[in-house]
Amino acid sequence: MSQPDPANTPVAFLGLGVMGGPMAGHIAAAGYPVTVYNRTAAKADAWVEKHGGHRAPTPAAAAREAAVVFSCVGNDDDLRAITLGDDGAFAAMGADTIFVDNTTASADVARDLAAAAGERGFHFLDAPVSGGQAGAENGQLTVMVGGDSAPFERARPVIDCYARAVTLMGPTGAGQLTKMVNQISIAGLVQGLAEALNFAVRAGLDADLVLDVISKGAAQSWQMENRGRTMVRDEFEFGFAVDWMRKDLGICLAEANRNGSLLPVSALVDQFYASVQARGGNRWDTSSLMRLLTMP
Ligand SMILES: NC(=O)c1ccc[n+]([C@@H]2O[C@H](COP(=O)([O-])OP(=O)(O)OC[C@H]3O[C@@H](n4cnc5c(N)ncnc54)[C@H](OP(=O)(O)O)[C@@H]3O)[C@@H](O)[C@H]2O)c1
Repeated sequence: MSQPDPANTPVAFLGLGVMGGPMAGHIAAAGYPVTVYNRTAAKADAWVEKHGGHRAPTPAAAAREAAVVFSCVGNDDDLRAITLGDDGAFAAMGADTIFVDNTTASADVARDLAAAAGERGFHFLDAPVSGGQAGAENGQLTVMVGGDSAPFERARPVIDCYARAVTLMGPTGAGQLTKMVNQISIAGLVQGLAEALNFAVRAGLDADLVLDVISKGAAQSWQMENRGRTMVRDEFEFGFAVDWMRKDLGICLAEANRNGSLLPVSALVDQFYASVQARGGNRWDTSSLMRLLTMP
């Protein structure tokens, strides 16, 4: 398949937060003309100053001329607001254009928005990401996509700008469902790691040395490699916020209620995260489960 000419493929990006800002920056760096919208206009102005392109005052104005429109906002409600709300992007999308949503949201909202897009004659892909702030800044995110293969193939070269892996997982919603699997995998693991490291400290071991040794064996994990040392040092003012994880686990638990899967550990860890929030840890990294053990 021939690659689109970036210079002739106008792109819009809605939501320039921790993730969206750098993702949009990688698309601009690849030569696509990018128009950005951000609810707080100052962030969009700063983005344009750094990366070029244009700022639009509303999602609709950003989407009007775009061949591919990206979004990366907080949750389902935010996503509905920027697509179907007042001055939402969907009213302005051109025929056969593509809307790619990078928000971590429910499979339900993806299905609703794909249906609304279909009625209006354009395409919707749910495309949540994994890899965190560092992955967004380095253009090394993993992207899990739900939707039809034809728009996926057309959007893929643009998604590639901020990704190291982009995979079509199945029909609409399959991207969000895959992201749920990712979050379920992480929740119990982080609690296990917290219990292990707290045990190591209380046993009088050199926790850094323990991490050096066991991270070369069967206990190895991304969380162990990237969070183990900061957990031991009680450092949590960075990373993936507990508020986001609770939002994600809420989505997972609701979906599990529908599909009949059991998530007993994820449900428990969600309650542990509620305790972290009650201590003021809303923006602490998810590895802060450790604090419930070190400071019960
Ligand atoms: N941070 C991570 O490590 C990470 C990793 C993977 C996935 N994610 C997911 O990626 C998404 C974005 O995360 P983030 O860390 O980039 O969050 P963030 O820094 O808080 O950015 C959120 C963005 O959404 C905008 N927004 C929120 N509500 C809105 C609304 N109702 N109308 C218009 N704009 C709205 C915000 O605008 P303002 O600037 O005006 O607030 C901001 O641009 C979330 O779904 C998150 O779960 C995050």
